[in-house]
Amino acid sequence: MLVIAHRGARETHPENTLLAFEQALAGGATAIELDIHQHHGELWVIHDSWVNRTTNGSGPLNWFSLEKLKKLDAGQGEHIPTLKETFQSLSGRCALNIELKGMDDMALLLEHLDYAITHCQFSNEQLLVSSFNHHWLAELNRLRPATKIAALTANKPIGLCQFAEQLNAYSINVDIDVVDSEMVQDAKMRGLKVFVYTVNRPQDWQRLHNMGVDGVFCDAPSNAVDYFSPNTVQRPFWP
Ligand code: G3P
Ligand code: CA
Repeated sequence: MLVIAHRGARETHPENTLLAFEQALAGGATAIELDIHQHHGELWVIHDSWVNRTTNGSGPLNWFSLEKLKKLDAGQGEHIPTLKETFQSLSGRCALNIELKGMDDMALLLEHLDYAITHCQFSNEQLLVSSFNHHWLAELNRLRPATKIAALTANKPIGLCQFAEQLNAYSINVDIDVVDSEMVQDAKMRGLKVFVYTVNRPQDWQRLHNMGVDGVFCDAPSNAVDYFSPNTVQRPFWP
């Protein structure tokens, strides 16, 4: 079972910050999930389109200049990182799931993926781009088929995982509230991996492991790493 640090080690550190990512690695995680929003020609690592919940600021991202965004306090001495800063900091040490939250310039994302590979020691095998917006994923797959994509869903569709196969996805990233054996078996039959969010309880880790799930997103990843160790060796690649 692959343990994926959900927005870093967010249970103990400010989510989606370099500190939370570093802490996840220190706790034994080898895969990290983060969220991005585009603003002012930059990709910012932040979950919400407003800064209120995770910083000392107030308002939507687009109210802020680059300089003002950089100065916001995200807690424990952290600020909102850009995706490039995150690539530089992680430097190929983990598998990375980039979730597209807010975006309108696919070329900017492509430029970032190239940057990660050319300058930050990442390989295509380590990068996974996910989104609930499947149109963005289809466009990404058309423009850069070497990039793995993950179709996010909080639903159990009538066609089960057909939507992900149509997208040429590597995985379905599915909500714990809807995933079941039928969905997992259907994904496997279509050659798709299954990653489940957000899973923080040992009984759920075990239940999903028994179901054949490939990975779980956790807010306290070191707990899940310890739970599965030593039977699972965590590796910095998608399985
Ligand atoms: O990628 C899995 C999960 O992060 C999706 O939901 O709201 O936590 O971004 P959310
Ligand atoms: Ca996310």
